[in-house]
Amino acid sequence: MSGCPFSKPAFPMPRQCPFLPPQEYQEFQQHAGPTKVQMWDGKDAWLFTRYDDVRAVLGDNRFSGDPHVTGFPSLSPARNAVLDLEPAFIRMDPPEHGRFRRMLTKEFMIKRVSAMRPRIDSIFNRLLDELLAKGPPANLVEDLFLPLTSEVIAGLLDVPGKDHGFFQEQSRLKVLLDVDPSIPKAASDRILTYLDDLITERAKVADGREDLLSRLIVEQVRPGHLTHRELVIMAELLLMAGHETTANQMALGVYSFLTNPDQLELLRNDPSLLRNAVEEMLRFHTIVHYNAFRVALEDVEVAGQLIRKGDGVVALISGANHDASAFENPQKFDITRKADHHVAFSYGIHQCLGQPLARVELQAVFATLFQRIPTLRFAVPLEQVKGKGDHFVQGLETLPVTW
Ligand code: HEM
Repeated sequence: MSGCPFSKPAFPMPRQCPFLPPQEYQEFQQHAGPTKVQMWDGKDAWLFTRYDDVRAVLGDNRFSGDPHVTGFPSLSPARNAVLDLEPAFIRMDPPEHGRFRRMLTKEFMIKRVSAMRPRIDSIFNRLLDELLAKGPPANLVEDLFLPLTSEVIAGLLDVPGKDHGFFQEQSRLKVLLDVDPSIPKAASDRILTYLDDLITERAKVADGREDLLSRLIVEQVRPGHLTHRELVIMAELLLMAGHETTANQMALGVYSFLTNPDQLELLRNDPSLLRNAVEEMLRFHTIVHYNAFRVALEDVEVAGQLIRKGDGVVALISGANHDASAFENPQKFDITRKADHHVAFSYGIHQCLGQPLARVELQAVFATLFQRIPTLRFAVPLEQVKGKGDHFVQGLETLPVTW
């Protein structure tokens, strides 16, 4: 916390431990509640870290997620460059947000996504076969998790396999926070141009095809519910949101098991803990840690604090998921806890659309990985396994392992 009683704490706060939220969040939860912080551009914002308060903000549509509304807080110049681009529905308010989201709801329904499990298992086992055939050491982020999650989301959209490396790289550049703003912007431009061409070609052959883009072209674009450009922007959101996040979560899940061998033993002895284990890793790491920036559209009271129209708000789901009032002993990775009420996928209207898919992918990985490679361990000293400090999405730079 800031040493001077007259100055506001600066946000974001550095993490003392790369795998846990900054300690200040706990202090705010216990002593302060909603706290005024100062952003890099000198402007103030309200920081919410308590579980109940974060849900209250995210569940209230009097807070806007549209970065073009005056007062929307800014995380960094590089993030501004991304938010200045044409918005996908993740940055829209009702009613526009619902119009786009509804077009995709049935695609990500639990039943539909669960039916993808055999395909996901088969991709994962093939990638594992290749990894084992090459022999140790390996970098699980690049050699296993990014290829898996890219192939799954690309399969849904039917994006050619030869282009997976390209969109993985653009996604990585787009979520960097502490770089020249031209870098994430150029990455986004490249992927939009790529998808524009892909969708133009797909439109010529869309009839009778099973992929998501073809279905959207036939059901939404042709009848005039969605423009070609809107589909390009939507496809970019799905492609980006759909692989980088889940791959990072897998890497951090492995990290948690390798650093908590007792928890790995529990899972080995009782595979019925798998579902719990996945929810716990989502809670524990809360990888999309800076997602919920908002601005008040009118005066709103939250937790006894009046937030004035135009005030910027940051609702920290990583804080909420480590609030001791909602999760006992929150800093412990404990796969026996019931963590289902976590908010790692956010809360309210922008709650992650792809969460059923992310869950199925994570369950596929953790049902199999340690079974097929029982001696899996870090290939370098633990201190050399680095978290992605300056990214919008938390993860590991690399995950060097051996067996
Ligand atoms: C572990 C993996 C994942 C995590 C932790 C995660 C987390 C999140 C979070 C926190 C949000 C809210 C963002 C905000 O309020 O600004 C979100 C939104 C979203 N996610 Fe995910 N996500 C994951 C995987 C996926 C996957 C696999 C997809 C599939 C395409 C996906 C698609 C989306 C979409 C489309 C939205 C926007 C929803 C809306 O605004 O209505 N995500 N995700």
